[in-house]
Amino acid sequence: MRKKIIAGNWKMNKTPSEAVALINELKPLVANDEVDVVFCVPAISIVPAMEAAKGSNINIGAENMYFEESGAYTGEIAPNMLTDVGVKYVIIGHSERRDYFAETDETVNKKVLKAFEHGITPIICCGESLTQRQQGVTIDFIRQQIKIAFLNVTAEQAATAVIAYEPIWAIGTGMTATSDQAEEVCAAIRACIAEIYDEATAAAIRIQYGGSMNAGNAAELLAKPDIDGGLVGGASLKPDFGKIVNYNK
Ligand code: PGA
Repeated sequence: MRKKIIAGNWKMNKTPSEAVALINELKPLVANDEVDVVFCVPAISIVPAMEAAKGSNINIGAENMYFEESGAYTGEIAPNMLTDVGVKYVIIGHSERRDYFAETDETVNKKVLKAFEHGITPIICCGESLTQRQQGVTIDFIRQQIKIAFLNVTAEQAATAVIAYEPIWAIGTGMTATSDQAEEVCAAIRACIAEIYDEATAAAIRIQYGGSMNAGNAAELLAKPDIDGGLVGGASLKPDFGKIVNYNK
């Protein structure tokens, strides 16, 4: 039985002091031992967020990471900077990073390999554009993203990975994919993992849905057999996030 994982993606929101205040506000609301709860916050807020989350079930994650160990990469965050402060999860290849910061399937793969090397669980994002969906190439496109993201990743590593299926047209738009649309793609992703590795790896890997998930639609999405959690943007900054985490209560 896969444990559900609900992750908030704060994106470029909240100052460090606002982050502390929000964590203190949400801490009692997101208590649910049946679910892994992760708050992926801006890099500058990771340390204060860790302090604020102490003693709770909240894991603090990063929103990005570079694929080199150290050196002349102005503005980037190295994997050992994250592990040094206890980060265990990192979002990799979010569509906003692909669209605005030129990330590619190849850089996503490098980051995924580097995260595993450092014992950080990558939350690997994939998702099609509206045009791709309308042209009927969604599954082909996602399979390609997955196949490249997992190049040279071992089965043991892959089994511990998290994949976030986030249709780009559903992100921040209020246009959530229907639970059937989300399940269809999440099932296809799991089949793709079985093809690359084996059934056991496919059965172990956790696949989230993301894109306008909220307190009203979370329970239906999370009831689907291949949806093991959510990557939540807008609604993770509000008390609503507690309702998503407690979708089963
Ligand atoms: P959203 O964002 O929930 O605001 O649509 C999800 C994401 O981009 O991870």
